[in-house]
Order: sequence, then structure tokens, then C-alpha cells
Amino acid sequence: MELKTPLVVSASPFSKKIDNIKRLEDAGASAIVFNSLFEEQIRLEKEKKFLISIARNTSEKFIHQVKSSPTDYLEKIRKAKEVVNIPIIASLNGFSQGPWTEYAQLIEESGADALELCLYHIAADKYCSSQETEISYLQLIESIRNQISIPLAVKLSPFFSNIANMAQRIVKKGAEALVLFNRFYQPDIDLTKKKMVPNVLLSSPSDMRLPMRWIAILKDRIDCDFAASSGISSGNDVIKMTMVGADISMVCSALLKNGISHLSIMEQEVKNWMEKYEYPSLTSIKGCISSFNVTDPGAYERLWYIKAINDYKI
Ligand SMILES: Cc1cc2nc3c(=O)[nH]c(=O)nc-3n(C[C@H](O)[C@H](O)[C@H](O)COP(=O)(O)O)c2cc1C
Repeated sequence: MELKTPLVVSASPFSKKIDNIKRLEDAGASAIVFNSLFEEQIRLEKEKKFLISIARNTSEKFIHQVKSSPTDYLEKIRKAKEVVNIPIIASLNGFSQGPWTEYAQLIEESGADALELCLYHIAADKYCSSQETEISYLQLIESIRNQISIPLAVKLSPFFSNIANMAQRIVKKGAEALVLFNRFYQPDIDLTKKKMVPNVLLSSPSDMRLPMRWIAILKDRIDCDFAASSGISSGNDVIKMTMVGADISMVCSALLKNGISHLSIMEQEVKNWMEKYEYPSLTSIKGCISSFNVTDPGAYERLWYIKAINDYKI
């Protein structure tokens, strides 16, 4: 996809309201990723449909009441496409194969310009090997790729023994882009109620180091586009991500903290930096600090690690 700037809004609650989608476009978003449609939501809808089909006294009113969110999701994509001119990227969130993946096709039919598959899975079965888990991800990616013709991005977690190997296999299955990285939201504990409570910790600027390192390592080694996600909150962050090779920089927490208008501030900061250092376009700096020329990126990263802790002054 051709985007006017690298500033993309990642999957977030903003996309739930058409009004916000328009405001994000006005603030300078070059594309918007929709909040995810979850595998579980789709499965639930299918179960409901099955229950309705076997219920004897099903009334129209009842059917209307159970009209569930997957259908609304598609409708929202259609509406967003009417309201804005920038690309809309839908997001499917799951990890297992099954009939739920047919929503990829429905998403394409509803007008989405691309699909992001968010692999959010906590592999916690001690009898399931890492290899089995990885193969099941790859099968899911392949099955979704075969159902759509729009671009497919895969949003990954950083928790693989060898991200480079996994990234390569994902791209071989047909993903055109990798989104590094997904963020996991572990629950907290409420000490008064003495139970677990859901809790979203918004990211902080230091969180961008991990995707920044990995994009630097993978750029030009893996043949795909790279989207950086986590901790990006300023124009300088976008410049840094571009320098290591990111094609786009995604923003979520910074907008939740500072409001939608923060996006235009970030865009202006990028412009200011380019003017200051007299760069005609971001293309001229893309990948200038990637690790492409490093023969052994693992050893290189270890050297940086040793230098960092040895140089720390107390
Ligand atoms: C409230 C909230 C909702 C989110 N919803 C989704 C989602 O539906 N699907 C998804 O893939 N990521 C989702 N994310 C993750 C973001 O898209 C993003 O990858 C993550 O927050 C890291 O980027 P950031 O540092 O800019 O926030 C959500 C994040 C937050 C804070």
C-alpha cells in the first residue's frame, strides 16, 4: 500500500467510533488499523446461530437481539470506508484454525484495504512443543492467506526462541508485512477483593527499544514490510524507527494518553527534524542504521549488551 506518511494508528478502541476514525484521518493518520475481531467472538456467533436454528419458537425479535459483534464489525468497516479516504486495515485476532477464519474473506468483501492477523496466544500447555505451536501459527497464516487477495500483515509477539526464523517462515506463508510487536496485557491482583482484575498498562517510550532492535536486525534479511509498534510517542521515535528500517510507525498508547491531536504534533516533529538536517524525504534515511551489514547479528547484539552494562556509571 502507498501511504502518505509512516504514521499509522494501530489497533485500538479509537476505531470503535466512526467519529474518531474521521478525527484520526484529520489529525494525519495515513491508515487506521481497526480494533481486533476475536476468534472467540466469531465462534460465539456461530454457536448462537446454531442455537437459533434449532429453537422451535424463534421470533424475529430474538434473532435481532442476538445479532452479534462480528456482523457489526463488518458493517463498521463498510461505514469507515464511506467516511474516510485513508486505508482501513482490519484486524483478526486468534491462533487456532477453524471455520472462524472465513471472516478474513468477509472482511475483504466489506471493503478493508488490508488485514492484520494478530497472533495472541499464551502457549501454556506443557505437552505442546514450541515446534507444534509454531506450525499451528503457520497453518493459520496459510489458511487466511489463501482466503484473501488484500495484503496480509502478521502482528507477532517477541516471545520466540528465534524471531528471525519465525519471521522468515511467516513471510514464506504469504504475509507481506510484519508488525513488531504485539503487547500482552497480564491481569493485576486487587488486594482488597483478593482476586485478579483485568488491567491495561499503556506503554512507555522505552518499550520501543525491542521492536527497534528487531527491525534493525530483520530489515533486508526478511523480504517484507515492517511496521513498528510499542512505545512510539514522538516524531523523534518515528525517525528512529525509520532509520532502522521500519516502513511504518504505529501509535496507540501515545494517543490514548494525549488525545488524537497528538498525531499532528508527531507529524510536525518529523517534518521539523527533516528540515533541520535537510533530508528531502524519509526514504533517504530508511534503514540507514539497520544491522544489514553485520555478519552475525546475534554476536553484535551481545557486544552492545556487554558494552552497555560495562559502561554504566554509578
Ligand atoms: C486499550 C487498548 C486496546 C488495544 N486493542 C488491540 C486490538 O484490538 N488488537 C490488537 O492487535 N492490538 C490491540 N492493542 C495493542 C496496540 O495496537 C499496540 O500494538 C500496543 O498498544 C503497543 O503500541 P503502543 O505502545 O503505541 O500502545 C490495544 C492496546 C490498547 C492499549
